[in-house]
Amino acid sequence: MTIKDRPFPDGFLWGGAVAAHQLEGGYDQGGKGLSTADVMTLGTNEQPREITDGVVGGKYYPNHQAIDFYHRYPEDIKVFAGMGFKCFRTSIAWTRIFPNGDETEPNEEGLQFYDDLFDECLKYGIQPVVTLAHFEMPYHLVKQYGGWRNRKVIKFYMNFSQACFERYRDKVTYWMTFNEINNQTNFESDGAMLTDSGIIHQPGENREKWMYQAAHYELVASAEAVKLGHQINPDFQIGAMIAMCPIYPLTSNPADVLFAQRAMQTRFYFADVHANGFYPQWLLNRFETEHFNIDITEADLATLKAGTVDYIGFSYYMSFTVQGTGTLAYNEEHDLVKNPYVKASDWGWQVDPIGLRYALNWFTDRYHLPLFIVENGLGAVDQKTADNQIHDDYRIDYLTDHLRQVKKAVLEDGVNLLGYTPWGCIDLVAASTGQMSKRYGFIYVDENDDGSGSLKRYKKDSFEWYQNVIATNGSEIE
Ligand code: BG6
Repeated sequence: MTIKDRPFPDGFLWGGAVAAHQLEGGYDQGGKGLSTADVMTLGTNEQPREITDGVVGGKYYPNHQAIDFYHRYPEDIKVFAGMGFKCFRTSIAWTRIFPNGDETEPNEEGLQFYDDLFDECLKYGIQPVVTLAHFEMPYHLVKQYGGWRNRKVIKFYMNFSQACFERYRDKVTYWMTFNEINNQTNFESDGAMLTDSGIIHQPGENREKWMYQAAHYELVASAEAVKLGHQINPDFQIGAMIAMCPIYPLTSNPADVLFAQRAMQTRFYFADVHANGFYPQWLLNRFETEHFNIDITEADLATLKAGTVDYIGFSYYMSFTVQGTGTLAYNEEHDLVKNPYVKASDWGWQVDPIGLRYALNWFTDRYHLPLFIVENGLGAVDQKTADNQIHDDYRIDYLTDHLRQVKKAVLEDGVNLLGYTPWGCIDLVAASTGQMSKRYGFIYVDENDDGSGSLKRYKKDSFEWYQNVIATNGSEIE
């Protein structure tokens, strides 16, 4: 069987993906409160973003302006429509709806903003695909409640979810509860813990324990949200969102293979709980032996069972590799080794298109659920020529190589894939570093790392390429 000249299935959702805090800007407009993303400064690959105690004068916070989508979205959506988008994945900034997080009533101006944004999409036949919590939460909940280490936050998240589900009941079908909930597997990263769980670690505390505790409350909140969403609209499709980095053994040494398996179990137990509705036994055993004393109640376990997800949304950028260490306690900060068979991006992310086909099959075998690739792409430095051209053939190559593997997984392996939304369809602020120079888009935004620039938009060469992929429903990918 060949994939040449064969299209993707009818109704395949081609689109693009972004997140509110990385493109909207307007961080203090429309009644919006301060979010965790608003207290992170500019960083680089070598220099992590600083997390400040509130907004500190004299520091630069890239998400405050981002690319000013808050004011420019009608023009941007029009350009997406010109590319032929069938869907547009974005998130709802929690702090536009509940500025502090613990109010009892939502902020009407924030709700109206997303009504207008979604209407603008629907006007062009683009369906919004919405993440509820994408790497941000009200900063007040961090300061006052300790973020997701506090059970009370479940209730606040439910208020937020309910307000969104009710308001956008007839505008949104595809939802995701928590973006890349499993990135906090790397609990030693301050950035990952703040963005996923609103946790600022105290010196000397057991970071791993608090990660598991926060993740548990998030998983319960997710399951509650799935239940509630289905009551509000039975047609809602509510998914998980998992950062998929397959973890390979460096060699066929059984010790490497076993360790890689445990690393996968560790990184993807979040998906197990989302999809199966219960914890894997190996992890419950680990909670015991490590004396983590995670607060998990019988009621929580019932909720997890009753609120399993409808599909698995996932991001795919890279694969990881590990070598046996003599213990099965996987520590992502220390245990990754270089894979000699794959190249890496300028930011050191291992580029591995075949890993995407592997991932699609792995998820299918494990959960038997529909899948949705909600992020994929290459962060690269682009050069704008004097006549405003951006020749990003490296991005076209990256995406073509990945789509080839996706197509094989769908057409040859029979994977049930709902759609494909490449990350950062328009250049935006990088989550890990806060840089504008780490660009993913089909549309170039004239903005530098320090926020200077005209913010004007320019089409890159990849724009026309992706437009053609959508117009031909992927049939030219071979
Ligand atoms: C994923 C996130 O981790 O990867 C996005 O869901 C993020 O928010 C994307 O932007 C790419 O990472 P980065 O750090 O290059 O922006």
